[in-house]
Amino acid sequence: MLRWTDDNRFVLDGTAFHAMPPGMLSVGADVELRDDEFFVFKSRDDVERYVALFAEAAPRRVFELGIYGGGSTLLFGKLVQPGRVVAIDRLALRDNLAKLRRYTEAHGLSDVVRPFGEVDQADRARLAELVETELGGGPLDLVVDDCSHLYEPSLASFNELFPRLRPGGAYVIEDWRWAHTPVGDDQPEGLLTDQVPLTRLLFEIALAIPGRPGLVSDLSIEADYAVVRRGDLDVEAAEFDVAACSNPRGRALLAEAP
Ligand SMILES: C[S@@+](CC[C@H](N)C(=O)[O-])C[C@H]1O[C@@H](n2cnc3c(N)ncnc32)[C@H](O)[C@@H]1O
Repeated sequence: MLRWTDDNRFVLDGTAFHAMPPGMLSVGADVELRDDEFFVFKSRDDVERYVALFAEAAPRRVFELGIYGGGSTLLFGKLVQPGRVVAIDRLALRDNLAKLRRYTEAHGLSDVVRPFGEVDQADRARLAELVETELGGGPLDLVVDDCSHLYEPSLASFNELFPRLRPGGAYVIEDWRWAHTPVGDDQPEGLLTDQVPLTRLLFEIALAIPGRPGLVSDLSIEADYAVVRRGDLDVEAAEFDVAACSNPRGRALLAEAP
């Protein structure tokens, strides 16, 4: 049972977590962690949303993209039991992963929580290998992309992992809206003006709904959190490209976009 001990801290099965305080933007910068705490780079509402998602869907094979402090990986590991969460990050994250491994070894969770540093989310071959070696080849129940938040690497992960979800499985894309500020904002171009907005991936997924009937059964988009549900159409992961799942009229809509 998860219990909040103050606005940002919670305890789950005796383990202490620190969620992201409101207004925090840069990675981990403003949080002072106790030695026994794990940092989850998600707001209190996000944490509650994942707890509800795990309770509703009871996923057993979970792939997480983006580890950072290891708190979300451990949180998912606690919620996924008796399943497994495989998590990757481009960075080595030596201290964070050492702390996570110390914890999982001490608590009998080494088989449940499987973190891998120095894996890029754009490395499709490595993602496929991890699904084979760590998750029995799938199918996956849940993928959470809280990683680069950039279009190209996010597209690569989506193309490799979405086909491997079971029908009804969920693919979460976090923090997609960085290119878009509210109308009237004094930064109308949003962030990272030299990058393709991640929004493009959501548009491509939307176009795949009519373009490849049965591939995507549902797409739900909130301000910082999109959930794509897998339909039952069989597709080969190795050849899959969601950006090609639309006829010319759909592709033309995005052709001029950066
Ligand atoms: C927002 S943090 C992850 C936070 C974590 N999921 C949580 O909720 O506590 C994003 C992570 O993605 C990693 N990252 C960024 N680009 C990446 C890429 N191309 N491949 C793999 N990891 C990447 C960063 O190193 C960083 O640790």
